[in-house]
Amino acid sequence: MIKIAVLISGEGSNLQALINACHSGKINGKIVAVVSNREQAYGLQRAAEAGIENRTFVRKAYADNQAMDMAIGDYLTEKQVDLVVLAGYMKILTVPFIQRFADRILNIHPSLLPKYPGLDTYRRAMEAGDLEHGTTVHFVNEIVDGGAIVLQAKVPIFSDDQLDDVMQRVKAQELQIYPLVVSWFADGRLKYRDGRAWLDNEILPENGYASDE
Ligand code: GAR
Repeated sequence: MIKIAVLISGEGSNLQALINACHSGKINGKIVAVVSNREQAYGLQRAAEAGIENRTFVRKAYADNQAMDMAIGDYLTEKQVDLVVLAGYMKILTVPFIQRFADRILNIHPSLLPKYPGLDTYRRAMEAGDLEHGTTVHFVNEIVDGGAIVLQAKVPIFSDDQLDDVMQRVKAQELQIYPLVVSWFADGRLKYRDGRAWLDNEILPENGYASDE
């Protein structure tokens, strides 16, 4: 059973979905650590309620971003983590951290990457008049939101939608696809090699599994 660390900054609904999937056996893994960069992150309570060790690392306690990521990395190494799962972790990880956990960091981003990397994806999609939005699970490399895509989920944007409607629609998809992707990794089916995502020894298409592009 693999050891998983989940990094969060806020609500932690993706974390909760991962906790549930580990408990029900859908993910053949154990969350051994939850890390937050914000003391008030509600996800910390979810971790505590599930009996998962959790720690907060705040930037002001460190000289720079690298020192903070070094401390987080040391903690994850101490916990013998096999997979680092970013679930709403809103701080950009430094290159040494990414290299230290190379090939075993996953992220979920609320857009159909490569469209809308970075912040404010819902507003940007709606202002552009897009008819669909979505979410992407991808491996993390040194380029922000730029690593190989594993799986995406699309949702429609309707003309009378408010931002919150689209956000909820996307979130519902995230809670389905993230545990699924983590389960593939935990089962040894999903790997990151040569900058590409592989599922069952096949390179996944640029837009991930079951891409319709
Ligand atoms: C998720 O929707 C995730 O896609 C997004 O933060 C939200 C966290 O929600 N991540 C990013 O924007 C990363 N760039 P949660 O705390 O309820 O899981």
